[in-house]
Amino acid sequence: METKPHATGTVKAGDVTRRVGIEQMERRGVNVTELREKLIDAAAAEFTTYYYYTILRNFLAGHEDYKEICEDARLEDRAHFELMVPRIYELGGTIPFDIREFADRASCPDAYLPNTDGGKLRWGLDGQDATSPASAADILTVLLEAERCAIRTWSEICDLTLGKDPRTYELAMRILNEEIEHEAWLIELLSMERDGVSRPSGHFRRGEPGEAPFSKNRSFYNP
Ligand SMILES: [Fe+2]
Ligand SMILES: [Fe+2]
Repeated sequence: METKPHATGTVKAGDVTRRVGIEQMERRGVNVTELREKLIDAAAAEFTTYYYYTILRNFLAGHEDYKEICEDARLEDRAHFELMVPRIYELGGTIPFDIREFADRASCPDAYLPNTDGGKLRWGLDGQDATSPASAADILTVLLEAERCAIRTWSEICDLTLGKDPRTYELAMRILNEEIEHEAWLIELLSMERDGVSRPSGHFRRGEPGEAPFSKNRSFYNP
């Protein structure tokens, strides 16, 4: 009788305490626990960046073009968080039950509004409007460095999974595509704003803010 080579494996039929999706990664040499923890740190960086970008975008007041691009990057970071969280659960993990722990373990630094004493500056207590303590160039610099941290983060995840864990690789690769675009956008804006030098990113506008053309592929996967 013909045998079907993949009909059975080391996970027993009906066993819900083990996952073939994990077993196959381990067989190919992935340290799943280590990867899972890195994914949580990376998801935390996306989530906190989404929060900080909300502030940075608002304090780009008066620069409608910068605000729009910052909004694209902000909403795409939310999409990156949403894209990776299901993968953490598939790998048997969870994001921390306390948001403070989650924020603290982010794999990128807090993207504070510049000149706020690491976010400690308080305002509005005397009834005055909140005005920015930072120039547009200061803010674009913070945005640029946040994108660079994201590129380093997702490149590492791609390295750890290439040829061994196609699913995580493919998700990380989609995020990385957008992070590389974000860096190019911010180089273009900062180069002109700070140095008066035109350095094209090749970018025109997204169709809609937060379109996330790679990480939110509606016909394929829409978390
Ligand atoms: Fe991101
Ligand atoms: Fe980004």
